[in-house]
Amino acid sequence: MSERPLILPFDPAGIALDRRRGLSQQLYQALRARVLDGRLSSGTRLPASRDLAAMLALSRNSVVRAYDQLYAEGYIESRVGDGTYVSRLPKLSTQLSTGLSLGLSTGLSTFNPKNTEYLSSNRRISEPLQRLKNHHLPSPKSAAPRAFRVGIPAFDLFPFDVWAKLQAGFWRNPSPAQLGYGDPAGEPALRELIAAYLRRSRGLSCTAEQIVITSGAQQAISLCAQLLLQPGDGVAVENPGYRAAGHAFALVGGKLHGVAVDEDGMDCRQLAQLEDCRLAYVTPAHQYPTGVTMSLARRLQLLAWAEQSDGWIIEDDYDGEYRYSGAPLAPLAALDRHGRVLYVGTFGKIAFPALRLGYLVLPPRLVQAFSQGKALAVRHSEVSSQCVMAEFMARGHFQRHIRRMRKAALSRRNVLKAGWPEDIPGLGGMPEVAAGLHVKVDVDNFAREQELVAQAEAMGVEVTPLSNFWLANSDVPVDKRAGLVLGFAAVPEGEIAEAMMKLRKAWRPLRG
Ligand SMILES: Cc1ncc(COP(=O)(O)O)c(C=O)c1O
Repeated sequence: MSERPLILPFDPAGIALDRRRGLSQQLYQALRARVLDGRLSSGTRLPASRDLAAMLALSRNSVVRAYDQLYAEGYIESRVGDGTYVSRLPKLSTQLSTGLSLGLSTGLSTFNPKNTEYLSSNRRISEPLQRLKNHHLPSPKSAAPRAFRVGIPAFDLFPFDVWAKLQAGFWRNPSPAQLGYGDPAGEPALRELIAAYLRRSRGLSCTAEQIVITSGAQQAISLCAQLLLQPGDGVAVENPGYRAAGHAFALVGGKLHGVAVDEDGMDCRQLAQLEDCRLAYVTPAHQYPTGVTMSLARRLQLLAWAEQSDGWIIEDDYDGEYRYSGAPLAPLAALDRHGRVLYVGTFGKIAFPALRLGYLVLPPRLVQAFSQGKALAVRHSEVSSQCVMAEFMARGHFQRHIRRMRKAALSRRNVLKAGWPEDIPGLGGMPEVAAGLHVKVDVDNFAREQELVAQAEAMGVEVTPLSNFWLANSDVPVDKRAGLVLGFAAVPEGEIAEAMMKLRKAWRPLRG
């Protein structure tokens, strides 16, 4: 004999529906929330659709659609000839059920590491989630570039017409072999072309097999962090430096050591004293953000450190194409005889960052592991932008575009230099800019830096405080961290000249 269910009365009170929006969806959500938080307990009999429609002044169709959805998702069950009941579900705690229903209705995808609510409960929180609290990136600047945004190349010069034609060509007749799961290390043609480009233009003797295509430099750095570090390993980062790299190392449990940067690059004596250090992250061609080029002596010291301490070096050559006198510098990786340097490159500063295309050049013994690591993270990078970039390179557009971009960045730099005010209290002169897309200018102290940034912002001009690039626990006095960083390539010369006029006005000392 089957057990007779306990029949609880259904109370529609409190179901308030907004008649301007989809009624069946609202009814479904209201009933589902009540099941999850226990207001409708297992075994409650729901009214027949016709009756509920009358109670709530809805069409019967709306109720049937809401019931169908609840039924499909298992919240309710129907018993033949006996009506519709709330299903027998495992008991949820009130807290969990409330959280669940909120999560479903507001979208957990809006995860925000600044919102530390996820850390405040007494439930067990993973260490990476805890670390994210101190290591999240600032919100991206989504508006169109303006003077003097850092890290942005001249979008206005990218040959989108050529790119669009190549994209259309790829999609018109894609090879079926390219539409399934590809090589996690990347499209072979692109890897070949990158290797040839690096051999020719950088003197880096490497083969296509050493290259793993990534989603920009950031994924390359993240893969290094995941695959080369254990929690607690020391990581040397330049201080000031590229914070997004430091965050990636810290997220996997790396212990960040900020190492000073002088006019020769990272201070290798300081590095040698860090006994727990497994990895050093450097930007030797053009230190980010100070602009220093690492001297040959330092490069050799750094390589010797890696060899003696069984350490790794990540060489981030994010803007190496931009050198304004002579050829781009040979990378540190070209001097590496012991397979200690992982070279990171990106197309973000020649094409545009949103393309998310970069690469690693790896010592041969690491290639297989990185390829697997990439496969486990994302299988492989999206196929069309890889193939289109390969065509773009093979047909000579890439080299032509590099030349165009270098010339434009130089000309934009010259406008910035020519208009730089020399008589602003506390603000340094414009240094020589031999490379890259940005320049660092000295400022006397932190208060003055903040003042200059705020005055520029009030006029709609973006200058970035150097103090943002330091590690929070740095023992360098706060006034010694002051300065301004200006990106000069993002907008055309006319806009730069206009922004310079605004800056001179904003910063001009008031005469009494
Ligand atoms: C030093 C450095 N490395 C890497 C990147 C980012 O490269 P990607 O956009 O390819 O991740 C930047 C961006 O500004 C950078 O400044």
